Amino acid sequence: MQEVEQFFREQFGSPPSVFVQAPGRLELLGNHTDYNEGLVMSLAADKYIYIVSQRRNDGRIELASTAFEGRETFPFDRIDKNPAAPWADYVKGVLVQLRERGVRFTGFNAAIHGTIPLGAGMSSSAALEIASALTVRRLFPFHLTETRAVMLARNGENAPAIDKQERMSLAKLCQTAESEFVGVNCGLLDQISSLYGKASQVIQIDCRHLSIEHQPLPAGVAVVVCDSGVKHSLAAGDYNALRRHCESAARSLGVRALRSVTPEELRAKKNRLNERDYECACHVVGENQRVLFGERALRQGDIRQFGQFLFQSHESSRDCFKNSCPELDMLVEIARSHPSCIGARLTGGGFGGATINLVEQSGVRDFQSSVAARYQESTGRKSDVWICQIVDGAE
Ligand code: GLA
Repeated sequence: MQEVEQFFREQFGSPPSVFVQAPGRLELLGNHTDYNEGLVMSLAADKYIYIVSQRRNDGRIELASTAFEGRETFPFDRIDKNPAAPWADYVKGVLVQLRERGVRFTGFNAAIHGTIPLGAGMSSSAALEIASALTVRRLFPFHLTETRAVMLARNGENAPAIDKQERMSLAKLCQTAESEFVGVNCGLLDQISSLYGKASQVIQIDCRHLSIEHQPLPAGVAVVVCDSGVKHSLAAGDYNALRRHCESAARSLGVRALRSVTPEELRAKKNRLNERDYECACHVVGENQRVLFGERALRQGDIRQFGQFLFQSHESSRDCFKNSCPELDMLVEIARSHPSCIGARLTGGGFGGATINLVEQSGVRDFQSSVAARYQESTGRKSDVWICQIVDGAE
């Protein structure tokens, strides 16, 4: 936070008055289930987007980022895309959605800094959206309901605490910003994870009923992230294509979403689907089952069984959904052969990014060095391997 505060002073010549942080997330189990109204387990990770800000009086909004050159400036009532500053789209998309719901904001300065590795599949984009929404809420206090916002009297720069319901409204607003302004038709996993994180706990999301539960991860288990160094970009269109296959499969099966389909039903109705739709449906239906049984295994303290579901999930990504890549497969194989590894799989959208690994705490140092060394030997690429702490959600 100190770094971004200093950056703000350099950019804007005065100190910021509002500080906001939103964590990135790791998808633990349940891949591409969110937009299929399915089940997913995730956690908020100790990598953040920070935004510090201050109101200004001339009606202009000025954004600066430590990660990109140049500042992005525009009047509060004319928010357009600028192809020279695509990073600002995530902020602008949120501003547009806030305005549509009746949030009356005017000008402000904001400096953005992030520690979430870009392209690692830890959802820096959702964290940026959430941090943007919370920044505006602190600068121009409002209460957001499902459909619209009510402006609140300004009380210093303190907006009231956000209750559970408002968190969900904020998550949905940010998701809409991403699909309408940025053009990625994502589900709610990333935004919910950044907002509902709880230290040392896993988040269990039911994406049909939008209910959230938390469950602790057993003591003695470390969460380790291995970055493949292969960048992924969801905006590239692969993500939207996978989503279309899932939706097409649901239509052919006569259901609203693949959440409603059991593995037996899918097998019985296989001939209704084309091959690719069937493969995608198999992945999603299987993932829902794995989360269901995974939650139960965790509750019973059966971390070994839980880890097996992670391996199976990765195999399903690799063979059915085809959203893995050779580097991610290699990382999972290397991890799997380490005696302290409990489970490993790709995390997030796929096509590069990182793997998430559950590792016995006692062997975690050796796991880190040996995975990094063997990955480099096999691929010539460096992998950043780090232990991740599970943290509270955005504030
Ligand atoms: C990305 C999307 C999420 C989710 C995951 C895959 O992170 O933004 O909504 O679909 O991929 O589970």
